[in-house]
Amino acid sequence: MAHDHHHDTGHRHGHGHHGTDIDWNEMGPLLEAQAELFAPVYERAMAWLAREVTGPGLIVDAGSGPGVLSCLFAEAFPGARVVAVDATAPLLERARARAVRQGVADRFDTLAGELPDVLDKLEYPADLLWASRSLHHLGDQRAALATFAERLAPGGTLALQEGGLPSRFLPRDIGIGRPGLQARLDALEEEWFGRMRAGLPGSVAETEDWPGLLTAAGLEHPRSRTFLLDLPAPVTDRGRAYVVAHLSRLREGVGDALDAEDRATLDRLLDPSDPASVHVRPDVFVLAAHTVHTAVRRG
Ligand SMILES: C[S@@+](CC[C@H](N)C(=O)[O-])C[C@H]1O[C@@H](n2cnc3c(N)ncnc32)[C@H](O)[C@@H]1O
Repeated sequence: MAHDHHHDTGHRHGHGHHGTDIDWNEMGPLLEAQAELFAPVYERAMAWLAREVTGPGLIVDAGSGPGVLSCLFAEAFPGARVVAVDATAPLLERARARAVRQGVADRFDTLAGELPDVLDKLEYPADLLWASRSLHHLGDQRAALATFAERLAPGGTLALQEGGLPSRFLPRDIGIGRPGLQARLDALEEEWFGRMRAGLPGSVAETEDWPGLLTAAGLEHPRSRTFLLDLPAPVTDRGRAYVVAHLSRLREGVGDALDAEDRATLDRLLDPSDPASVHVRPDVFVLAAHTVHTAVRRG
């Protein structure tokens, strides 16, 4: 799913109850809305990157989806060409349309194909290769990172957005059901994530030591920093819509594994006619923490 910190609990389709296939095309609007809500986080992450990555000629957004971040990169680095890379061609069409709307189309390209191999088609090595929440959808993350690193120019930077903290949208005790619902949903989501990874083609179990993996890919100077999205209550309409979408996807993806009381609570939270629902309740907020890990190819 188009979701927050590191997982993407998908819709069920065709694989029964606990299916982990994700229909990325169907998720386009959600990915877009989410990335737009998180834009302040990405802008701060890009300002942090810009301190080390000076005057990049080519920025590659690997697993760009609909290109919200790709376009933010084009704005943050006005001297750079940006290539959005993704396996889902219709999402790249959205990315291109966005680049046109934002007036950056003259230095914006798309490349459709499966990561990591599609990167062989890049004409030039990247000065900055960014992969947000896409690496964990590739079966062999270590091998993918080695390919990412090979596609860097000397002195180029690889930046991953992986990990962070589970997001919070509600107080621990919301006055209905048993307190701590979100923590229990997190636990189910972790299990879902494990099944999702195990079901990927060529799946390889990997310790998620991102700085260690970046170093193992031959890169130097690993650094990690976490960026916070803090939208306190009363939340904006956009923030509320994100919470509704996120909890709806969790209901669909893992809700049946909740116990009956938690399931009933989640259903009330999602019922627009219920005064306790996240559609109307005043205590909804968005608190999310995303981590970016970088490392550099020797110059
Ligand atoms: C969770 S979305 C992240 C989108 C965007 N980077 C963001 O942070 O908003 C993951 C993206 O990775 C793409 N993806 C997943 N598996 C892929 C693969 N094997 N090759 C290329 N792209 C892939 C999906 O199409 C989707 O757009």
